[in-house]
Amino acid sequence: MEFAELIKKRYSVRAYKADAVEDNKLQQVLEAARLAPTAANRQPFRIIVIHTAGREAELKRIYHRDWFVQAPLLLCACGVPAQAWRRSDGKNYTDVDVSIAMDHLVLAATDLGLGTCWVAAFNPAAARQVLCLPDDVEPIAFTPLGYPADQLRPKERKPLSELVHYEKW
Ligand SMILES: Cc1cc2nc3c(=O)[nH]c(=O)nc-3n(C[C@H](O)[C@H](O)[C@H](O)COP(=O)(O)O)c2cc1C
Repeated sequence: MEFAELIKKRYSVRAYKADAVEDNKLQQVLEAARLAPTAANRQPFRIIVIHTAGREAELKRIYHRDWFVQAPLLLCACGVPAQAWRRSDGKNYTDVDVSIAMDHLVLAATDLGLGTCWVAAFNPAAARQVLCLPDDVEPIAFTPLGYPADQLRPKERKPLSELVHYEKW
């Protein structure tokens, strides 16, 4: 898909079909994340691939929406802050790196006809418990991965004039 079309077609999918995601498509989505740039190429992200079948109840402890467990797959993008690059003032870039990897996989999924929805409003303690995360791994975002059962909505966005400054603030 042409890039300008791809970024218009991506939307937050909040209803999924039960249809399986082909393994070669899952691998393409994961490969897109792998190729993402990261600060100093530290690659401090990890992705957990979760099959939802039979685990719906425990997964809904992480985020209590029916659509969260409706797709056959759920992905959790995690950060490993100790592995991430830090700026000279100490700022840790884990969240930025994880977000770029996540966006790569989200766009790759869209290109393959798959739906995703960023989820950050989850319960991190439940995520840690259900996914057996080690203490040094931070869950940053989830997305279901499956075929959409809803429709693209019109995008509501601020105008560029509000978002962009030229030369100075
Ligand atoms: C970092 C981030 C966190 C988000 N967390 C949630 C969430 O917890 N639950 C949810 O339903 N949508 C979540 N969203 C989706 C946004 O609400 C959505 O991207 C935004 O409203 C624009 O709509 P669109 O994605 O359909 O273009 C999140 C999006 C981002 C980028």
